Amino acid sequence: MTASSHSASDSGADSISSLLARHGQSHLLAFEDRLSAAERRRLREQIEHVNFVELDRLIQELVLQPGTSALPPSLAPAAYYPAQHTDASRPWRAERFREAGEDMIRSGKVAAFTVAGGQGTRLGWNGPKGTFPATVVTGKPLFRVFAEQLLAASRRYGTTIPWYIMTSPANDADTRAFFVDNNHFGLAPADVFMFPQGVMPAIGLDGKILLETPGSIALSPDGHGGSFRALAGSGAIDDMAARGIEVISYFQVDNPLVRIVDPVFLGLHATAPDSSAEMSSKMVAKVGPEEKVGVFCVVDGRTAVVEYSDLPKALAEERQPDGRLRFLAGSIAIHAIGVEFVQRLTADPDRFGLPFHRAEKKVACIDPRTGEAMQPERPNAVKLETFVFDALPLARSSVVLETRRSEEFAPIKNAEGVDSPASSHELQSDRAGAWLEQAGVRVPRRADGHVDARLEISPLTALSPEELLDPERRSELPSAIRPGQELAI
Ligand code: UD1
Repeated sequence: MTASSHSASDSGADSISSLLARHGQSHLLAFEDRLSAAERRRLREQIEHVNFVELDRLIQELVLQPGTSALPPSLAPAAYYPAQHTDASRPWRAERFREAGEDMIRSGKVAAFTVAGGQGTRLGWNGPKGTFPATVVTGKPLFRVFAEQLLAASRRYGTTIPWYIMTSPANDADTRAFFVDNNHFGLAPADVFMFPQGVMPAIGLDGKILLETPGSIALSPDGHGGSFRALAGSGAIDDMAARGIEVISYFQVDNPLVRIVDPVFLGLHATAPDSSAEMSSKMVAKVGPEEKVGVFCVVDGRTAVVEYSDLPKALAEERQPDGRLRFLAGSIAIHAIGVEFVQRLTADPDRFGLPFHRAEKKVACIDPRTGEAMQPERPNAVKLETFVFDALPLARSSVVLETRRSEEFAPIKNAEGVDSPASSHELQSDRAGAWLEQAGVRVPRRADGHVDARLEISPLTALSPEELLDPERRSELPSAIRPGQELAI
């Protein structure tokens, strides 16, 4: 190392030392003498990327003195367009919106957007969650399920539906490699746009930033709310604008039944009289007060989602006179987002920010005294995340569409039990069975109502039950499914 580079790095380290001292984080350099010059440089770069002024506030509010999030006094359930559009409480004409949505899709105004930056720790899958084998018979990975939908929808509407995928710095390379290894599942690589989301330091319960190794901060993704900044910062939103995209179909990587290209929803978002075409959502009726989904509410006249952990038990259990839950509208994390809305929010990145939430997690780190690696058995850290649905109140107005759970929601989140591969398979088979029944196939059912067979319908075969009615497809279907039969079409 030359004398000049030595002194330059020393003075850089000095200013970083005083910065860290001012913010009570000097321990970050505690093991500097063990690091090579390159490792020191990397650590210094990481430190320089931290916004310590913002972090001090977040550590105070969310780590050291976390209050229970105060619920707004004016909380009320949000109105929604019911799935049964003949519902006397709010009749509406789906056909009108379907036509508008189909026009938008045909004219290339719709893009798909998957948030896939999460760490998937609950599932225990060692790799990006989108690579998880999700389907019932052929075990297709989630990314392939979505790709097949986009291929089928692009063909059906004679258009190209570009696909934007938000990764994280931790899984970006693996995600890209998976797409290359799988030949982009038949999609044109130019129509698949990946970008990593931002990260935040993990904070120990004592308010100190955790080190993952002696030379690196423990960083974790900044939540799916980071997608607004990442869409803008990566150039994705400019790419969309250049392609003439107007609406982003937003969905999570964990739901193989998501209907990515839904003309009724897209048309409602773009043309309903009470929609600003900025951000719209789909909901399902909650199965019970305890279900772990956020609920759509109205707060100070604006649509908002209150996360399940923030909704007091008493409110979650309130009932309407007909016995249904009062706070019924569960979020399945599917949104239509206007490109102009993202542009408006991120026009001045320094002024845009969604609120951070705290999540206590187990974070692998080093012992700050010895530098030895530690694998915590209990939550030892707070991760700071923003949520995409916190942008809803920023929309001028926002509409919510009810959809049927059995048609669109079978998430894979946990290794076992609720929202697991097993429960998702059951729901996927149930939906496939219902579609086959609509096409006149006899499908066996168990006493509990679930389909007694393992069934899988590729999006390339049918995107909706109506497509199975096509005479050519119908002629290929069996007349009946045997109990326990495995069938992939
Ligand atoms: C989420 C919603 C919940 C909704 C439920 C429906 C939150 C906080 N809650 O719960 O309201 O009812 O789904 O299934 O989102 N992700 C990123 N980057 C991140 C964090 C997450 O891309 O930094 C992605 C994940 O890859 C995944 C999705 O966001 O696709 C969901 O994240 P997760 O933390 O698993 O949310 P849930 O608790 O399942």
